[in-house]
Amino acid sequence: MKKQMTIALTKGRIEKDTVKLLEKAGFDLTFMAQKGRNLIFESPDKSFRFLLVKAPDVTTYVRHGVADLGIVGKDVLMEHPSGYLEMLDLNLGLCKFSLASTEDYQPKDHKRKRIATKYPTVTKEFFNKKGEDVEIISIQGSVEIAPVIGLADAIVDIVETGNTLVANGLKVYEDICRISTRLIVNKAALKNKPEVMSFIQKLESIVGNEEVPFQ
Ligand code: PRP
Repeated sequence: MKKQMTIALTKGRIEKDTVKLLEKAGFDLTFMAQKGRNLIFESPDKSFRFLLVKAPDVTTYVRHGVADLGIVGKDVLMEHPSGYLEMLDLNLGLCKFSLASTEDYQPKDHKRKRIATKYPTVTKEFFNKKGEDVEIISIQGSVEIAPVIGLADAIVDIVETGNTLVANGLKVYEDICRISTRLIVNKAALKNKPEVMSFIQKLESIVGNEEVPFQ
């Protein structure tokens, strides 16, 4: 009997974009249309199922092998880098990590900077590479407020349209890296489940390998 394949999918915008992409690849996902508040969706032929989870948990499900595959942003993979293989750039959910602050920020003065972020690992690595010692202040969201009210000198955060920065009187001082949605896989599933490899190949054939330029 063919084994069932389980895919951990990031809830929200990544989920919507991924459903469109998979339909383009020939999967019938009409069973996902009426989802209500369900969090597990099984295809009518039971060949695969989706777990709808929060982004950082995608890597946890894949690492523990309860999901064979995961679909999640590169921002999350950079914070949680181990226990899976990154297989494909799906070229969806394009945005970037940037260093941003208010107009009066002096990036080159010699003061030790306080940097607020939801992404301490990315921030640490970015400043380490520059050889700059900073204090990292971890916060959970609405990071743009931090330099405005004096919690931090600057922030490292995701920028998509840039509207949130502008609305809070901030600007980008440096772009750190491009972010997009990625397909990850559990190592054992890749080795033992042939349907996992054929799923990856099917997606690869429609996303292509061209690198979308850094925004
Ligand atoms: C992200 C990010 C910015 C915003 C950037 O937040 O942290 O706040 O999107 O988008 P923009 O450049 O298009 O304005 P998200 O919406 O994920 O909410 P969060 O702050 O709760 O994480």
